[in-house]
Amino acid sequence: MFLRKILRVAKHSFLAAILIVGFVRSAMIQAAPTGERLRVLADRIGFLIGFASANDFWNLSDAATYQEVARAEFNILTPENAMKWDAIHPQQNTYNFSQADRHVQFAQENGMQVHGHTLVWHNQNPSWLTSGSWTEATLTSVLYDHIDTVMGHYRGQILVWDVVNEAFNEDGSYRASLWYNIIGPEYIELAFRRARAADPSAKLIYNDYNIETINSKSNAVYNMVADFVSRGVPIDGVGFQMHLTSGGLDYNSFAQNMQRFANLGLEIYITEMDVRYNLPVSQTDLQNQATIYRNIIDRCLAQPACKALQTWGFTDKYSWVPNTFSGQGAALIFDENYNPKPAYYALQAALMAAQGTPAATATRTPTRTNTPAGPTATPTRTPTRTNTPAAPTATPTRTNTPTSGGACAVDYVIQNDWGSGATVNVTIRNNSSTAINGWTLAWTFPGNQQISHMWSATYTQSGQNVSASNLSWNAVIPANGGTVNFGFNLSYSGTNAVPSSFTLNGVVCGGGVAPTATNTAAVPTATATRTPTRTNTPTGPTATPTRTPTRTNTPVAPTATSTRTNTPLAPTATPTPGAAACSVNYAVRNDWGSGATVDVTIRNNSSTAINGWTLAWAFPGNQQISHMWSATYTQSGQNVTASNLSWNAVIPANGGTVVFGFNLTYSGTNAVPTAFTLNGAACSLP
Ligand code: G3I
Repeated sequence: MFLRKILRVAKHSFLAAILIVGFVRSAMIQAAPTGERLRVLADRIGFLIGFASANDFWNLSDAATYQEVARAEFNILTPENAMKWDAIHPQQNTYNFSQADRHVQFAQENGMQVHGHTLVWHNQNPSWLTSGSWTEATLTSVLYDHIDTVMGHYRGQILVWDVVNEAFNEDGSYRASLWYNIIGPEYIELAFRRARAADPSAKLIYNDYNIETINSKSNAVYNMVADFVSRGVPIDGVGFQMHLTSGGLDYNSFAQNMQRFANLGLEIYITEMDVRYNLPVSQTDLQNQATIYRNIIDRCLAQPACKALQTWGFTDKYSWVPNTFSGQGAALIFDENYNPKPAYYALQAALMAAQGTPAATATRTPTRTNTPAGPTATPTRTPTRTNTPAAPTATPTRTNTPTSGGACAVDYVIQNDWGSGATVNVTIRNNSSTAINGWTLAWTFPGNQQISHMWSATYTQSGQNVSASNLSWNAVIPANGGTVNFGFNLSYSGTNAVPSSFTLNGVVCGGGVAPTATNTAAVPTATATRTPTRTNTPTGPTATPTRTPTRTNTPVAPTATSTRTNTPLAPTATPTPGAAACSVNYAVRNDWGSGATVDVTIRNNSSTAINGWTLAWAFPGNQQISHMWSATYTQSGQNVTASNLSWNAVIPANGGTVVFGFNLTYSGTNAVPTAFTLNGAACSLP
């Protein structure tokens, strides 16, 4: 009897345990969303819907689920961290593409586009960069090398690059980053120009947060990009990061803001959206969050220039928010168990509503509503490159024939060749039954190829002879078919013939390793879904009717540093007849004790335009200009002259202005000059 009772209790406990386990499992396992997947709906209307891909996502404990959801839902990804400087350029002469390549490979295997993030930023920079002693020239050269190498490695494979990220402060002034402090604000322009040359097929955008609505920061970005467009500096669009809180944002202001950028002929990308809440979230919070997502995507879909909405991650399980904002999270469209949240269904409903509506046609041709003074490209801006990736049309050239069976095989694949240089991927396979620990691969170039950069190996080159050796992390080539990969960029003239033999640790190898994922990826996979990369970017309206005035001399300096001790000269000094009547505003925008940034505005008070100008002054102290932008200069002791560049030679009549700026160093005090002459005639001070 007692035994039966025990058995009955045990039986009930067992059943209860099964029920509990079953309940917990069903709560843990993700439920597939109902309705069509986001990417299916987005593909149909030529829209990009995407996510930021987590570090090492292939190693996550739930990697299979993560990848299954990602490939089902999205048609574009941004590597969240893997393309940043600290990850991809850990030492000055070492690039490491191994992580970033996995993100690109995943995208290509699943017919997704890639959004590159980011080429120039103040954050996540390696210590060799942040603690180096740079001059303007050496830092510019480092910047160019980075852009050339990273964009060159992925040439033709990245739809859109965040060229410069987060360069402005909230008040619209430039952020005092490494780049700004040493090169000056024109580092931004230099980066865009270099990026266009490095991969002409990629769209180039400026990316920032808190610029979604009309405010001081977005005004500064607008002024900068309007200036770029008017001067032909290559830029294709603007990224609104869209990191929001439960308050959402002013949707009308968001729509107006998009419109003014669209009026410049630029595209708009929502690049990093999330909407964070205090934890734990309630059902009401989740519904409100869904409304915010819906409001944003609706405005974006209604604006033909808005090309993409990407969230920063997709599951709350792997989001940057809880690590940065203590007690907050739940910011994304899937919960921690990969269940779709109300926000998911809000995006789905918006995309469904946009199916077949005129605003969301497959071509989504940007409308330019302003009447540009003279765009050279036609306003319809029909995309040229319909899915012809820049380089990958060249099937990997594998002309190396096996020279022997050998214990090793080498596959030398020209991934990309642009006539004067190329990107090469090399795979070494260990055919023997013992692992190789430490390797050096040697070969002779048949032509005059010269390696400029190598990643995942170190190298020496002497004439045509090259040897490449492992780094510490890839020293071992596993036995029985194990492989390692490395790659490099080279320059050449004549032909870029492939080396015909290789030795590994002194032993001759055969050729013909089966193509690896990386080299297969160079060949266009299913490009059917690739949205056209618009390469015919018009240089743009030279006169934009809607342009708001560029920063009208808001002197930063009225604060402590604004020691404008100069007494006005001019009220008493009547301009000499025939000389230019001018006034000069010398504003110390930023002063860090041993140096400063200065903005100078020259105003033409006369009734005739000035064509060609030279402003002269004497520093009261020992200031030394280190760099000037928007003018050229000479300095001899304390005497300085600054002259116009070709594009800003004219100062319009009746109050027209030009602005230039410079960085200076000093010791002692940074007193302000008290007199200026413009083309030899004295100017007044404000
Ligand atoms: O790589 C190191 C690792 O070696 C170390 O062990 C570990 C310990 O904390 O840190 C790792 O670095 C982390 C890095 O992400 C890579 O995972 C940093 O601590 C961490 O701060 C960093 O956070 C990233 C953040 O940018 C840095 O500013 C977030 O993951 C990333 O989501 C976030 O992304 C930015 C965008 O790039 C630009 N817009 C804003 C957005 C959110 O901040």
